[in-house]
Amino acid sequence: MKAVVITKYGGPEVLQLEDVADPTPGADEVLIKVAATALNRADTVQRKGAYPPPKGSSPYPGLEVSGTILALGSSLSPGSPWNVGDEVCALLSGGGYAEKVAVPVGQLLPVPQGVSLRDAAALPEVACTVWSTVFMMSHLSPGESFLIHGGSSGIGTFAIQISKYLGIKVFVTAGSEEKLEACKNLGADVCINYKTEDFVARVKEETGGKGVDVILDNMGGSYFQRNLDSLSVDGRLFIIGFQGGSTADVNLSPMLAKRLTVQAAGLRGRSIENKAKIVKEVEKNVWPAIAEGKLKPIVFKTFPLAEAAEAHRLMESSSHIGKILLIP
Ligand SMILES: NC(=O)c1ccc[n+]([C@@H]2O[C@H](COP(=O)([O-])OP(=O)(O)OC[C@H]3O[C@@H](n4cnc5c(N)ncnc54)[C@H](OP(=O)(O)O)[C@@H]3O)[C@@H](O)[C@H]2O)c1
Repeated sequence: MKAVVITKYGGPEVLQLEDVADPTPGADEVLIKVAATALNRADTVQRKGAYPPPKGSSPYPGLEVSGTILALGSSLSPGSPWNVGDEVCALLSGGGYAEKVAVPVGQLLPVPQGVSLRDAAALPEVACTVWSTVFMMSHLSPGESFLIHGGSSGIGTFAIQISKYLGIKVFVTAGSEEKLEACKNLGADVCINYKTEDFVARVKEETGGKGVDVILDNMGGSYFQRNLDSLSVDGRLFIIGFQGGSTADVNLSPMLAKRLTVQAAGLRGRSIENKAKIVKEVEKNVWPAIAEGKLKPIVFKTFPLAEAAEAHRLMESSSHIGKILLIP
């Protein structure tokens, strides 16, 4: 099969489409013929050599796909619940930038009602990341307020929609008026341009000085103090990325005064069992919102798999809104 290989660590040009061996599905895995895969920020970090795949994972990038089941592993019987020929999407720990990929059976999801096979590739990573963090761990609940940094990102465009579906007041930050307009169109209530406004002051102003209940943060160190300052009493900060570095000099007193909780987690390094649990929760809680037409994958642009380098250039320019797809 053909796959995108990281020929050496470096810029987008190191991504090359090459002939490689087909993956063999393990006993509890299925083999998928890939219809589409989606980019994630982590793929660019893996390409640079700073995010190696977990032990036993495919060396090729790609954390999610959609496609058709080609074969079932030896311990899987037909119809339990999948069959050869079924259309699915899947959460991966790598290997999506390819014509075929093997995936543990617990990481499969049906293509949601009303979504094309291609666009379904844009859903597993964002849905599993957002659901497993702010919902399963921070217990973000209807009636609460929620600040999403990077509102126009793949993660952000999903987080806005699922939160609005669940009756949550959504605040977002983004770096341009065009991106904020897109967030507003997806339902965001308070849109803050972090380049021209102080987000802490705006959050305080919009909440009568109280702050928000939960924050989903992609920045880490550079936003840590400002995030603590933006939370309400019993507020929860969930960090999923370190785009602003992983160290900070912080005044911790707001944590004690406001009884704050700070958590951080990655999805790719979790166990197969843990990922299966998240995938199940996502199917139960998120897929109905999609079937009701209240949530859709936001696809900004598609590229042929051979143009993975160009797709990475687009992601690193940060001029996209939503997800970028690659088509084998
Ligand atoms: N922990 C996990 O399991 C997990 C899983 C998936 C994703 N993530 C993380 O979630 C984040 C979003 O991922 P994604 O794949 O959706 O990426 P993405 O679409 O490329 O989004 C990245 C966002 O970061 C914003 N950004 C870039 N530089 C910034 C800066 N200096 N200050 C503030 N914002 C900045 C960009 O928007 P602006 O133009 O508005 O700045 C962009 O919307 C990434 O940090 C990624 O690593 C974590």
